[in-house]
Amino acid sequence: MCGIVGYIGNNQAAPFLLDGMSKLEYRGYDSAGIAVYEKNHIRIDKCVGRLEALRQKIAGNLPEGTVGIGHTRWATHGRPSDVNAHPHADSSGQFVVVHNGIIENYMALKEDLISKGHKFISETDTEVVAHLMAEYFTGNFEDTVKKVLKMIEGSYSLVFMCAKEPDKLICTKKSNPLVIGLGNGENFIASDIPAIISKTRKTFIMSDGEIATVTKDGVWVQDIDGTPISKKVFEVNWNAEAAEKGGFEHFMLKEIYEQPKAVRETMRGRLAKTGDAIEFSELNWTAEEFKDINKIFIVACGTAYHAGVVGKYYLEKMARIPVEVDIASEFRYREPIIDGSCLAIFVSQSGETSDTLEAMKESKRLGARTLAVTNVVGSSISREADQVVYTYAGPEIAVASTKAYTTQLLVMLLLSIYVAQLRGTITQERVAELVANIKEIPEKINRTLENVEQIKVFAKRYGSCEDAFFLGRSLDYAVALEGALKLKEISYIHAEAYAAGELKHGTLALITEGVPVIVLATQPHVYEKTISNLREVKAREAIVIGIAVEGDTEMAKHADHVIYIPHADGELAPLMAVLPLQLLAYYAALTRGCDVDKPRNLAKSVTVE
Ligand code: AGP
Repeated sequence: MCGIVGYIGNNQAAPFLLDGMSKLEYRGYDSAGIAVYEKNHIRIDKCVGRLEALRQKIAGNLPEGTVGIGHTRWATHGRPSDVNAHPHADSSGQFVVVHNGIIENYMALKEDLISKGHKFISETDTEVVAHLMAEYFTGNFEDTVKKVLKMIEGSYSLVFMCAKEPDKLICTKKSNPLVIGLGNGENFIASDIPAIISKTRKTFIMSDGEIATVTKDGVWVQDIDGTPISKKVFEVNWNAEAAEKGGFEHFMLKEIYEQPKAVRETMRGRLAKTGDAIEFSELNWTAEEFKDINKIFIVACGTAYHAGVVGKYYLEKMARIPVEVDIASEFRYREPIIDGSCLAIFVSQSGETSDTLEAMKESKRLGARTLAVTNVVGSSISREADQVVYTYAGPEIAVASTKAYTTQLLVMLLLSIYVAQLRGTITQERVAELVANIKEIPEKINRTLENVEQIKVFAKRYGSCEDAFFLGRSLDYAVALEGALKLKEISYIHAEAYAAGELKHGTLALITEGVPVIVLATQPHVYEKTISNLREVKAREAIVIGIAVEGDTEMAKHADHVIYIPHADGELAPLMAVLPLQLLAYYAALTRGCDVDKPRNLAKSVTVE
């Protein structure tokens, strides 16, 4: 996600752009920039770092002009740097653009433009759009935008400036948000409402495929074929703080509901168009290269570690390669038996977790090949690793990790299929079956989140308990680990996850009347045994909340309550099963009056050992 703003009117553009960007820093903050039409040319000021760095760079020398665009970046292609910051221009500086999203086919477009003599200065996908505008300029700004949009594939919110027609901005979107604020003698563009709410509450919420020409006196909307579109004014009734959370009460809840989009963005470009293969253009491993890898380590902390536990199941089951999963702070000091025949995967949302970073350095010192799975482009772990696979969850603000976890699970799944393809341990038919199921995940996540009212009731009823247990087998146990962490870290209820088969080896002693036990039973091959474990805790008068797959009729015979998730291939169930656990933790924390986004004693990124 990135923050985009635009202004056109009778006042100076720069003050609005900077203020609007400050309201969008939660969407991206590794670099920032503005472009203003000043004295017959488009002046661009941009730099790496938070918005404050840009403010200081142009303090006392703000660009003067009444038309401009701005951008706070969350890097996806090209590390954070001055030159990779937006806005981007073509070589002539006549065409300037800011972008939120991913241009999937940017490499092919860039190569073609280079063959036509274009010179690029950044590593970004966005710069290609500015050069396309220059290359295919028809003499008409709108027509050229429509022509260029037909060439690009992917997801985007785009705002264009053209020095040849400086009295207008053009904006459009596909799979990313964009709103237009309607003022008097001035109009505003933003990727999200917080940037404009202090100026106007009258807005056009843009829809995919709509192209808006914005002048200070009006907004004209058309589709790519030039058919006019009439927009209804949407009156925003949120307050400024609520607007930053997209109308949600907390960032955590907003990020829980962003998971369909986060998963969709993370799978984008990784499912072969043939539908029967997984691709990682950033890895390009060959079967030959992978032949001498005979062991994989997955090393991480907290939620990322729990994603690694799921990754172990996937890799061993599909790629038939031994996997060890380690807590990073333990890994470093156990003298791991690791060398050049091992691949070490380091999972980290922030890419800055000290324990994980130091574990990676130790692995490299011992000769292992290293791969980072992280959500932050240019983070320390991404720079230290031999190779990187990014999740595209967008900035995760809440301390409790949610959308980062589900996108990490997806990457673990895709990576496992990819390695299995290389090792010849999976059939094309099985891959095609998995790919078809993977494509349905965003919609199935949406459907799973519809259980929210039922979960609110459970949270209210059991939120006063001081202990809770999470049970599961196989992948359900891996998800139970994450469910327990979510509950304890934001509601402060003492929650533990146990392999269901482990219960009778001690923990059963803790199960007494009224203790809430969440039992996950989504894995067919261990279902019967899990149900018998459920009956063991019921026999001790526990309160059981079951997590089961739609169509399951057995669970309801034994559990006090059942939350159903959509039917999915057993391997994919974790991506849905975790959602009720996230919501349960969230609403239990609300019931207990906890600070959901900033739980006591915790930080979003633990950069100390
Ligand atoms: C998870 O909800 C916590 N915020 C915490 O366990 C976190 O997952 C852990 O600190 C690892 O952070 P990272 O993914 O940024 O490395």
